[in-house]
Amino acid sequence: MSAPTGDVVPDLALLERRATERAAARAGGADRLRGHVVCEGLVRIFKTDGVEVVALQGLDLVIDRGELVAIVGASGSGKSTLLNILSGLDVPTAGVARVGDVDLLSMSPAQRLRYRRHTVGFVWQQTARNLLPYLTARENVELPMRLARSRRGRAARQRAAELLELVGVGYCADRRPDQLSGGEQQRCALAVAIANDPEVLFADEPTGELDEATGAEVFAALRTINAELGVTVVVVTHDPAVATQVRRTVAIRDGRTASEVRRSARVGADGVEEVVTEEYAVLDRSGRLQFPAAFVSALGLRDRVRLTLEPDHIEVRPGDVGTGTGAPGADGAGESR
Ligand SMILES: Nc1ncnc2c1ncn2[C@@H]1O[C@H](COP(=O)(O)OP(=O)(O)O)[C@@H](O)[C@H]1O
Ligand SMILES: [Mg+2]
Repeated sequence: MSAPTGDVVPDLALLERRATERAAARAGGADRLRGHVVCEGLVRIFKTDGVEVVALQGLDLVIDRGELVAIVGASGSGKSTLLNILSGLDVPTAGVARVGDVDLLSMSPAQRLRYRRHTVGFVWQQTARNLLPYLTARENVELPMRLARSRRGRAARQRAAELLELVGVGYCADRRPDQLSGGEQQRCALAVAIANDPEVLFADEPTGELDEATGAEVFAALRTINAELGVTVVVVTHDPAVATQVRRTVAIRDGRTASEVRRSARVGADGVEEVVTEEYAVLDRSGRLQFPAAFVSALGLRDRVRLTLEPDHIEVRPGDVGTGTGAPGADGAGESR
């Protein structure tokens, strides 16, 4: 495998097409492509010593089968809380959380165990948490197969070697974690996480402890897993630069999805392919959206704003300017019906 590193921008469109095809094949047809991971109005409230912390306050998110999505947000915005819920480690307070056909709010303990062993894979930020120190890389990858009784003996050894090869660390198979660099450890951790062929791979800041070049290698391995195996990949990071590594980036603010960046390739007038980056605000099912903080401060928006429906857009003005001349009274109401 040739892992793109550093500044090399991967051909995201090609990888996405391949991931979509593989994911459709896994799911038994393109008809099951939509809505692999679905959250609606997801709420998680933590109570400690009588104090309530609302970590997720009505989060909406839809990730399709075969997508590779980055979730970015400041520390404390609820990213880990979301991933812990989606990977079956934690239970939400309210709302909808579904992965494939599995409802994460109503699982029995036995279903939860099965879900965590077979349906999803997980990688933590702390490299030490992903691998057992006294096992070699290959033994670490074999372990989940033995626990789940999915493969044993020679079949397990062979698959472990193949997976390490896939993520670019085949040469590390017989080394223990303390004989590996941080980046090599995280790529081994990815191989461990996909040992039982999960449908979805969750990674919580897998590059948080790595330098930029090593982090890019880990991202290359995530893209390979997505494109070659058709695994849906959700990766959390506080590094906004990651947007250049993936097609779709979702930003979380205060426990809600606030905006999205999508990248696509376009051939310009000069025949040269260029990458187009478009930013969207996320509209929830009740019609709510969150303005970027910079827009709010630029116009000094607060408390209430004026909305005007135009044929193809909506105007937003500070609510405290003007005296109502030309304001949408009966006319505006008529238009919006
Ligand atoms: N187990 C917990 N008990 C109490 N509060 C928590 C717990 N886990 C997370 N929180 C709080 O929830 C909020 C979101 O945390 P987290 O999901 O870890 O954010 P992120 O991963 O984006 O940094 C923070 O205010 C955090 O302090
Ligand atoms: Mg976190």
